[in-house]
Amino acid sequence: MESKKPGFVKITGFLSALKVKLLLIGETQVTKVLIVYATDYGSTKRMAEAIASGAHSVPNVVVELKTAEEVTADDMTSSDAVLVGSPVHMGSPDWRVKKFIDTVCGKLWVKDSLIGKVGAVFATGGGFGNAGGGCELTILSLLNNFAELGMIIIPLPKNTPGYALGGLQWAPYGRAHAEDGTPTGLPEERLEAAFHHGANVARVAAALKGQNLFAKPN
Ligand SMILES: Cc1cc2nc3c(=O)[nH]c(=O)nc-3n(C[C@H](O)[C@H](O)[C@H](O)COP(=O)(O)O)c2cc1C
Repeated sequence: MESKKPGFVKITGFLSALKVKLLLIGETQVTKVLIVYATDYGSTKRMAEAIASGAHSVPNVVVELKTAEEVTADDMTSSDAVLVGSPVHMGSPDWRVKKFIDTVCGKLWVKDSLIGKVGAVFATGGGFGNAGGGCELTILSLLNNFAELGMIIIPLPKNTPGYALGGLQWAPYGRAHAEDGTPTGLPEERLEAAFHHGANVARVAAALKGQNLFAKPN
């Protein structure tokens, strides 16, 4: 009885190891993309949804959309990639987005929790005048926050489909007003680059998942 027990344990151990191995082979690695945004009139939300569809078009990617006011630290740490979008307000990011950066992200900065995650941004603006006031400053300010958090930043290459109408080298930018300030909303063609930005970010995050590339202190 005593002598059989170890043998039984051995076989069980072998079988369960095999089972775990088979489970791992059958298991597909899922990449999580989190999209955080603020909106008053719906344009930034529309762009967030276009980005979400792009990310969702990549196999084995799950996408979560949250407003800057509802996103939590757990949402951030459980994600492989985070995209943050803001309307341009007085030439800079919306205060709700800034509050999220200073509170949720600030605490994670202290713990180095976001280092090596993939980060990207997007913005919508009024575009009053030729270029609109502060779209690049808004985007750069958010990218600067991501650099501070040690994230791997994804730009928007100029050959991205839809770039001419909805792109800047930093990120998709959606002009929701005509040059004279007349509200136009965001037409579909201005969302095409956003769709591809979402897909690019998801593909990079899937490729880098679990890679742990950055040096760490001993
Ligand atoms: C308080 C406020 C300030 C704004 N300031 C700017 C600005 O400085 N530059 C700009 O291009 N658009 C500005 N806009 C326009 C918004 O950026 C634009 O309408 C944006 O698409 C709104 O996004 P939403 O529909 O998601 O709220 C401002 C809008 C508001 C409400």
